Amino acid sequence: MSAFRPVELKHASRLLNHGPTVLITSHDESIGRRNVMAAAWSMPVEFAPPRIAIVVDKSTWSRELIERSGKFGIVIPGVAAANWTYAVGSISGRDEDKFNCYGIPTIHGPKLGLPVVEEKCLAWMECQLLPLTSAAEHYDTLFGEVVSAGADERAFVAGRWLLDEDKLSTLHHLGAGTFVTSGKRVKALD
Ligand SMILES: Cc1cc2nc3c(=O)[nH]c(=O)nc-3n(C[C@H](O)[C@H](O)[C@H](O)COP(=O)(O)O)c2cc1C
Repeated sequence: MSAFRPVELKHASRLLNHGPTVLITSHDESIGRRNVMAAAWSMPVEFAPPRIAIVVDKSTWSRELIERSGKFGIVIPGVAAANWTYAVGSISGRDEDKFNCYGIPTIHGPKLGLPVVEEKCLAWMECQLLPLTSAAEHYDTLFGEVVSAGADERAFVAGRWLLDEDKLSTLHHLGAGTFVTSGKRVKALD
């Protein structure tokens, strides 16, 4: 059962607005397989209904599971999940379940039953894959409609991130397993 607070779908785009590195989860019930990978490339693309884009290399096992099942999950890891994030982005889950391999606990998303992670993480979303266009043959970008979202109520308050410089911060990948965290807040003058 989720310990996170539901996020109103009209605020879902804000979960990705500041460009955090995410985990993309997938589950194909027809073959009983689930998976998780890291992704630095994701962004909101529509407000209502909330839609997002992710870039998932066509050679990955995640891409295969997402296309077969028509859905994917997005998890926003906190700084404590840096090792998990790098690990699941460094090997393929084609031959082994990376959740089990790295001891990453999951819960079932409320709408699509996708595996999502709350431990060491700050938010998640479940997304329905939008129909693939002919462009999908040539590009790695996939689009999804967010159908449910939840967040740690200390970190995402009234539709806004309330990140700090300590545990409640997101990861942003610089490359080769090095991240910066979301860090210090700066308020522009009104
Ligand atoms: C921090 C990080 C960010 C990554 N970002 C992306 C990304 O945006 N898109 C992508 O296709 N692969 C990305 N990768 C690589 C995949 O996570 C990697 O290929 C993964 O092993 C795929 O797993 P799978 O075959 O189990 O799906 C990233 C890896 C790391 C470590």
